[in-house]
Amino acid sequence: MFNHVFSLLFIAQCIQNLKTETWEKWSPPFINRTDLLCPSDHCTRDPALYVTTKNDCCTCWAEPSWKLYSLTYDLVLEYTRRGGTAQLIGDTTVANARFVHSKGFLSKLPDNVCEFVNLIEIEATNNKISSIGNISCLHILDTLDLSHNSIDSIGKDTFKHLPLLRVLRLTHNGITTVEPYALAGTTMSIFLADLSFNNMTEIDMSILIPENRFCQYDFSSNNIVKIVNEQNFKIDVDKIYHGGFVNLNSNDITQWFDFKDLGIDDISILGKVMQFGFSLQNMKWTCDCRMEPFLELSQDTLKRIWRDYYNVTCWDPPEYRGVSITDFFMEEDKLHLLVCNKSSADKCPKECYCFYQPKNRRTVVNCTGVGLLELPTYVPEGDNLTLLFDENDITKLEYREYFNRSSVIRLSNNKLNTISSNAIESIDSNAVFDLSDNNMNELPRDFQSFDPCITKLGKIKISCGCGDQWLVDWVKNKRAEKCKNTTEIICFIGDEYVSTIDLDLGNFCNDDSNLIFLNILFGMIIALLLGVFGVLYTFRYELFILKRRFINQKSTKIYPLFKYDVLISFDDNDAELRFWVMQKLASYLKGACYKTFIPCRDGKFGDIREEALINNINSCKNYIVILCDKYHTEDTFWTTVEWKYIWHSFKQNKERQIIIINYHQLESSEIREEKLKAFIRVGTDIDFSNRKHHLFQDIHERLGSPILTNNGLKCANIKFTAKSLHSQEMFMLDI
Ligand SMILES: *[C@@H]1O[C@H](CO)[C@@H](O)[C@H](O)[C@H]1NC(C)=O
Ligand SMILES: *[C@@H]1O[C@H](CO)[C@@H](O)[C@H](O)[C@H]1NC(C)=O
Ligand SMILES: *[C@@H]1O[C@H](CO)[C@@H](O)[C@H](O)[C@H]1NC(C)=O
Ligand SMILES: *[C@@H]1O[C@H](CO)[C@@H](O)[C@H](O)[C@H]1NC(C)=O
Ligand SMILES: *[C@@H]1O[C@H](CO)[C@@H](O)[C@H](O)[C@H]1NC(C)=O
Ligand SMILES: *[C@@H]1O[C@H](CO)[C@@H](O)[C@H](O)[C@H]1NC(C)=O
Ligand SMILES: *[C@@H]1O[C@H](CO)[C@@H](O)[C@H](O)[C@H]1NC(C)=O
Ligand SMILES: *[C@@H]1O[C@H](CO)[C@@H](O)[C@H](O)[C@H]1NC(C)=O
Ligand SMILES: *[C@@H]1O[C@H](CO)[C@@H](O)[C@H](O)[C@H]1NC(C)=O
Repeated sequence: MFNHVFSLLFIAQCIQNLKTETWEKWSPPFINRTDLLCPSDHCTRDPALYVTTKNDCCTCWAEPSWKLYSLTYDLVLEYTRRGGTAQLIGDTTVANARFVHSKGFLSKLPDNVCEFVNLIEIEATNNKISSIGNISCLHILDTLDLSHNSIDSIGKDTFKHLPLLRVLRLTHNGITTVEPYALAGTTMSIFLADLSFNNMTEIDMSILIPENRFCQYDFSSNNIVKIVNEQNFKIDVDKIYHGGFVNLNSNDITQWFDFKDLGIDDISILGKVMQFGFSLQNMKWTCDCRMEPFLELSQDTLKRIWRDYYNVTCWDPPEYRGVSITDFFMEEDKLHLLVCNKSSADKCPKECYCFYQPKNRRTVVNCTGVGLLELPTYVPEGDNLTLLFDENDITKLEYREYFNRSSVIRLSNNKLNTISSNAIESIDSNAVFDLSDNNMNELPRDFQSFDPCITKLGKIKISCGCGDQWLVDWVKNKRAEKCKNTTEIICFIGDEYVSTIDLDLGNFCNDDSNLIFLNILFGMIIALLLGVFGVLYTFRYELFILKRRFINQKSTKIYPLFKYDVLISFDDNDAELRFWVMQKLASYLKGACYKTFIPCRDGKFGDIREEALINNINSCKNYIVILCDKYHTEDTFWTTVEWKYIWHSFKQNKERQIIIINYHQLESSEIREEKLKAFIRVGTDIDFSNRKHHLFQDIHERLGSPILTNNGLKCANIKFTAKSLHSQEMFMLDI
């Protein structure tokens, strides 16, 4: 028995506003339906009131004619079992069929719902429905309201075949998952979706930015903590996103969006969806560096379009709690407050305070006044570091891996007195480098690549010598006089203090550049006075060296067999130099099949050193002497002794060569030892500064071919000896 209930009512003016409104037929350009009526007065009354177009307005306000005029046919429900299953009763062919059943105990939609293909509206609120089921058969369904049920998920195909579904209400269900593209896609056009008061913890990007026009999607009062992009959704720049209003209020999102993760590589693309309204109120926002790029980029746009629904207030950090993010971008100079702290886990030294500040594109390491005794060994990753090490007790400026990533290095008010050259080399010459108020009393020559006006040295007093012409030239060339306030170097020379700005070394020293000439002149005068012997005596070493160099003598004497090709003599107290010799020079020579003898490496510990030294020196064919400022002084006893015997052996054996590498680019006037001086004067030394180009070729040429008496071992074997003590040298060969 079917109980036909006709509830066809004609009420011409049932709704209050129908009296005043003119409802006019509206055919949306983006969906094939002809039954919608739009309140035309309302949507055209004051277009300025709505930034939207008429179509946007009608998307929110249009109603189907059958709803407006209540031209519907209600179906009757009959429970079939206790479990909440039911079926519909009524004419399966009648138009505009509707099914309303609230506050019941339906556990699912009626079994025979698919027989009623003309269903346009289902309203089954406050039941016990746990799943929507397969409703693909309801091709013309317009409204589906299943609020206050216990549906827990929505699949991507649930509404896919319902092209006319316009209103979807699913509030208070406990929905935890909504699959990507479940609400939006090319076959759907849901104008209004209300999923508020559910239990969603994540929401997919594809649902938030649908291509179709819509009025409002409401996901407020869920437990959403983040927006995800599982399907690799990307905003298509060639498409128009008309948008609508997306309500995400009262969720648990705290971190601002990482737009890259959301498929937005370039935040400016967001302009495409600026017609969307995203409401993000009533959440505990963390106002940190993640917010900054978005605010900075959209600052101008936001100022124009800011509306209440962007009312986003900070919760963290505590000092900004309750502050609206408007405050950050309305005034330009506040965006720099949006920073992310770096912890020890991010390599922030434990005494210090580090943060990333996107506004200034920098990472700051603030160790001001924390009592550091030396430079931290590590600092956070990232480029463009600002290192604030002022007011500590650091004594040594040593090389640090992070120097070349730093654009600001402040070390004022420390106790710096030792400055290593390779530290200086690794610092960008445009970096702000503040060394004022330290205890420096010397400046490595490497400083000449800096600009004294950028590199703040403060007022420093150092003792200068005749070899410090570079200092005078540097100060002059870089116009240091104009920044006397920040950098002034005062030389202690000849018992007085003179600012390098006014210093004329000529007043204290002989003019260096003319020295050779003067000496020759002087020599000639002597020659005139004392005759040829005098000349020969003065330049006896020079002449000897020149003779050795250019008059290639075949030795007639028989010399003992050499054990080594070359001995490298240098000041091994200089760590940097020792590193260069061991890692670069020695491995180069080894690679070129020379057998090298390095006293500090190969000399046997416990040998009575001087005797052993003489033996070793005699068993080497050639000598490389690396001349540094301390090579021949009272402090360096061993190199002084080495030099004595090297010269002696050199003089004895005509096959021997001495190759001088002028490591500190010393002038002849800076050298006291006569024979070393002679080498520099005749210019047979190799300038260390050409190391990038020819240094090793020059050495190679001078050494001639290797003796190859290394106990039958071929040098190729040495090359591939696994894990020898010096195996790491092999990797340094490609200098
Ligand atoms: C509407 O239907 C017509 C013909 O049935 C079709 O050509 C057109 O593409 C449809 N438009 C939309 C927006 O679905
Ligand atoms: C849903 O029902 C339709 C027929 O109405 C059928 O074609 C389709 O395969 C069903 N979908 C699922 C997921 O069962
Ligand atoms: C939804 O979340 C609330 C609060 O977190 C919880 O009390 C409720 O049991 C959850 N409901 C479901 C269906 O998971
Ligand atoms: C902005 O948000 C705060 C806190 O969530 C709220 O008190 C205030 O009423 C909101 N303002 C508007 C205009 O919505
Ligand atoms: C960063 O650390 C400072 C000092 O500890 C603190 O005041 C601030 O709130 C923190 N900022 C953020 C964004 O966590
Ligand atoms: C590096 O940081 C400084 C501020 O310390 C900033 O002015 C500059 O623009 C930054 N440079 C780059 C390349 O980001
Ligand atoms: C660095 O720390 C010092 C002392 O804690 C503080 O006075 C200074 O403002 C800080 N500088 C920056 C740039 O944060
Ligand atoms: C800094 O130096 C390290 C090694 O010395 C090098 O690998 C790195 O590329 C350098 N970084 C910059 C920014 O120059
Ligand atoms: C140097 O500092 C003094 C006061 O400390 C100031 O009057 C003067 O203008 C400054 N000169 C320059 C060139 O900055």
